[in-house]
Amino acid sequence: MLSTSAKFIHSIGFRLFSTFNVIASDGSSHSVSGRDNESVMSAIKRAGIPIVSACEGNMACGTCHIVLDKGHFDALAPASEDEQDTLDFVPKPTDTSRLACALHVSPMLDGATISIPGMGRNLVSEEDMM
Ligand code: FES
Repeated sequence: MLSTSAKFIHSIGFRLFSTFNVIASDGSSHSVSGRDNESVMSAIKRAGIPIVSACEGNMACGTCHIVLDKGHFDALAPASEDEQDTLDFVPKPTDTSRLACALHVSPMLDGATISIPGMGRNLVSEEDMM
């Protein structure tokens, strides 16, 4: 759900950052500001939060698996077919799973809570990673 200020800024077409909360795999909580249209993975990495990205953002490995809160997940456009194909093979997927490399920062993510699961499976090398 967009805040009133986020709706206003979005309505006039000018927005630089959206801020969301990231729960890292160690359970620590971080406020992250992302530039509109950059990947969520890029924003998380820039904030210094560990996230695995074995295929470097090509939607091929599934190691950048993230879980969104339901309200924000439901407000987003659904995953593309390529993203969903990779999500089908991540360990312990949830109903609100996405790939951090495929999801882009937008005002729709303002105030979201994004969790990074503790383990990702690299679909490129077929090895489990911690
Ligand atoms: S970094 Fe490999 S699927 Fe996102």
